[in-house]
Parts: sequence; structure tokens; C-alpha cells
Amino acid sequence: MTQLIPILTIDGPSGSGKGSISKCISEKLGWHYLDSGSLYRALGIAAIKNNIDINNEAALVELIGRVNIEFKRTEKGHWGVLLNGEEVRSQLATEEVGQLASKIAVFEKVRQGLLAKQQAYQAMPGLVADGRDMGSVVFPNAAYKVYLTASADERGKRRYKQLIEKGINANLRDVVQDIEQRDERDKNRAMSPLVVPNDAVYIDSSDKAIDEVVQQVLNLLKNK
Ligand code: DC
Repeated sequence: MTQLIPILTIDGPSGSGKGSISKCISEKLGWHYLDSGSLYRALGIAAIKNNIDINNEAALVELIGRVNIEFKRTEKGHWGVLLNGEEVRSQLATEEVGQLASKIAVFEKVRQGLLAKQQAYQAMPGLVADGRDMGSVVFPNAAYKVYLTASADERGKRRYKQLIEKGINANLRDVVQDIEQRDERDKNRAMSPLVVPNDAVYIDSSDKAIDEVVQQVLNLLKNK
């Protein structure tokens, strides 16, 4: 009999804290980690590097077939992202690349092309999957689902802080505006929009520290 792989999905908008929280929980549990946003971001970068029009769905799908995107844990415990063997992590963090990812993510065939790649991450002892459609589309049968959000203002401040810490030039007002624009696109696209899955636990992290949310999610796993 095949053993059921435990999966925790954490969906939510940009700046909700899902990246930090998913990473932290995967480390605490010793589970695998899927950062699906980085897959879309790396594909966007690959399109630019290959001079592919980001509005050309067929060309993007063809590109998925020939690029190799891998996540590798570095010696310092950080996650590296390799695009055809080249380290691109530092190129992924900007809001421009976030917008690029959000634009190519509207295409049905692009999402389908990335579906099996994402599902291939499920492995024992478990998986933490972070994104927009993890609980609704990619892992609908996941045992544990969380929808994490925060006010647009708070999310903007967090993203701004992250960008500045990474040495990326940013302006708070522009960051909040970009986030709102991206939310709008991600929530209103026809294919796999960002939704709260029916069976997800809804957490608003506006007034919560990361540790507090991590504990809340770990309790959820313990008590289910
Ligand atoms: O999580 P992130 O900010 O790195 O994601 C970047 C963009 O990629 C996001 O605005 C929309 C898209 N995305 C998606 O459509 N589905 C996912 N599961 C993850 C990201």
C-alpha cells in the first residue's frame, strides 16, 4: 500500500509572510519545500534571457519544455535557484520580476506546463507548498491548508523592508501600488486565481510576528 504523503499548502498574496513561514515550517518539520512563485519568476527571467515575448503563450510553453529550474539548499542554509545550472536567486527578488511572473501566470497552458513539475515535489516525509493555487489546484487533496494574508499596507511595508535589506532600491508608495496591481491580476485571472480554498484555515498576519504564525500553523498540524 502506498503511504499518504502529508502536504501543507500555504497560499496567499505577496507580502503575507508565506515565504518566510513556509520555509521555517519546512525546516522545523524536516519536510520538502516548494516555492512555486520562484518557478514562475525563474520562467519569466528565462523568457527575457531567450528574447521571448511574454505575451506569446505558445512560445512560453515551448520554453518550459527546455528549461531546467532547480532549487538547491546552499551550505549556509539559504535556498538557491538554478536556471539551466546558473544561479539566479538574486535576480528573482525584484518587484519587476514579480510583475513579470504574475503576467505569464495568467496563461492556462503555462500553468498546465508547470503543474506536473510542482506536483513532483511531493515526497516523504512531507511537503510544504507555498503559492497562490497550491490548496485549490495543485494539491487539492492536501491534508492541511492555510490561507495567509495581511492588509495591503502591512504587506507593502514588509516587501519594502525585504527589498531594502536585499540592497534593492525601492519606494514604499510604489511597492504598495505594485502589490495592489499584482493582487488584482492574481485574484481576477480566469485560470487558477488566488482564492481561499474551502477547507483552508484563514490567518490574518497583519498584527502577528512570524513566530506566532509559525506556532499557529504547527498547532494546526498537531491538532488535526
Ligand atoms: O509568490 P511570488 O510573489 O514569488 O509569486 C510571483 C507571481 O507568480 C505571483 O504574483 C503570481 C504568480 N504565481 C502564481 O500564479 N501561482 C503560484 N502558485 C505562485 C506564483
